[in-house]
Amino acid sequence: MNNKTKILVTGGAGFIGSHLIRLLVNKYPDTLIVNIDKLTYAGNLANLKDVENMPNYRFVKADICDYEKMQQIFAEYQINGVIHLAAESHVDRSITDPFVFAKTNVIGTLTLLQAAKEYWKNDMNGKLFYHVSTDEVYGSLDHGGFFLETTPYDPKSPYSASKAASDHFVRAFHNTYKLPVIISNCSNNYGPYQFPEKLIPLFINNIRHNKPLPVYGKGENVRDWLYVEDHARAIDLIFHKGKIGDTYNIGGFNEWKNIDLIRVMIKVADRLLDRTEGASEQLITYVADRAGHDLRYAIDSTKLHEELGWSPSLQFEEGIEKTIRWYLDNQDWLDNVTSGDYQKYYERMYINQ
Ligand code: NAD
Ligand code: DAU
Repeated sequence: MNNKTKILVTGGAGFIGSHLIRLLVNKYPDTLIVNIDKLTYAGNLANLKDVENMPNYRFVKADICDYEKMQQIFAEYQINGVIHLAAESHVDRSITDPFVFAKTNVIGTLTLLQAAKEYWKNDMNGKLFYHVSTDEVYGSLDHGGFFLETTPYDPKSPYSASKAASDHFVRAFHNTYKLPVIISNCSNNYGPYQFPEKLIPLFINNIRHNKPLPVYGKGENVRDWLYVEDHARAIDLIFHKGKIGDTYNIGGFNEWKNIDLIRVMIKVADRLLDRTEGASEQLITYVADRAGHDLRYAIDSTKLHEELGWSPSLQFEEGIEKTIRWYLDNQDWLDNVTSGDYQKYYERMYINQ
């Protein structure tokens, strides 16, 4: 099914999108990769410096909610495959401003689906709309069990509700209009170029600057962490080999209680910063819990492994050290993305509560 030669990637200037674009542009020199991104606070073209001049890469600044613009892009580039990542992605922001999540994640996805359906309506053969979703649509687990592809949806935050709604629209377009679709639901990603509002880059930046490490509640919530390049590899594999109409869970069977993960980060960062081992433990500060904080996520990705042969390539110890080293070596990138509006966000979230 490797006949999609003009691929539209949405949200390619964000964290996961930039890793995916890098992979696709380098791996498929004869495929045109068109990146559309609104460049919100989370989108940054500096994430793509190394590929911006590649002959098979184009960037268009556009909002996925703009239907006419989406129609124009499908026609201009004769798009025959979509990998849709553009979204509002931070749970805390969805708690303070749910409307923008409904707009981008639900209306934006619907707008793209409609544009794809209209552009492909005379020949759906060989086309694919791939929607990148999250494990959070399945809700929250107790201490046992895993999310399977068949687990009923039970989203609990405005973010996960908006992602669940977008997944439903994707399936509805498959059922109603026979649009060829695939959905994947992945666990927490970590790695370079993640905006420092998310746990791992936020805490690395704060350790570096000797600032408090705001642990929500008791730090007992559990997340299942996957290195971002392994997610990008999984998306590439599913996009080219996955079964139309199917869902694939992606995760590394790598669960960590937040406080244990934070202690590992402190240990590695202190070593890399030439500090006494454990010196930064004093920065740990327990703060008010996130409203409606999901206790545990754990993904069962057996289907992806058994049907398509995917496994994570990196052990967590290696991945977290590589990640911490990257942020410490790329302080300019961090300084750049934390200037401007980030300061206001940080004060609202962590200082003036
Ligand atoms: P991100 O916030 O880093 O990037 C999102 C990108 O989308 C940004 O470049 C932003 O500018 C762009 N964008 C936002 N609104 C837009 C709009 N209206 N039009 C066009 N572009 C717009 O997000 P991420 O962490 O890279 O996540 C990418 C996707 O993967 C999201 O759909 C998210 O739900 C999903 N996901 C993320 C994770 C994770 O751990 N980060 C895990 C599973 C799934
Ligand atoms: O599971 C996939 C999801 O993972 C993605 O769909 C989301 O886009 C992505 O943001 C992520 O959501 P989380 O809410 O799990 O990630 P976050 O990094 O915000 O938080 C991870 C855990 O750390 C969570 O239990 C909350 C906690 N936390 C987070 C922050 C920012 C803290 O204790 N303190 C903090 O300051």
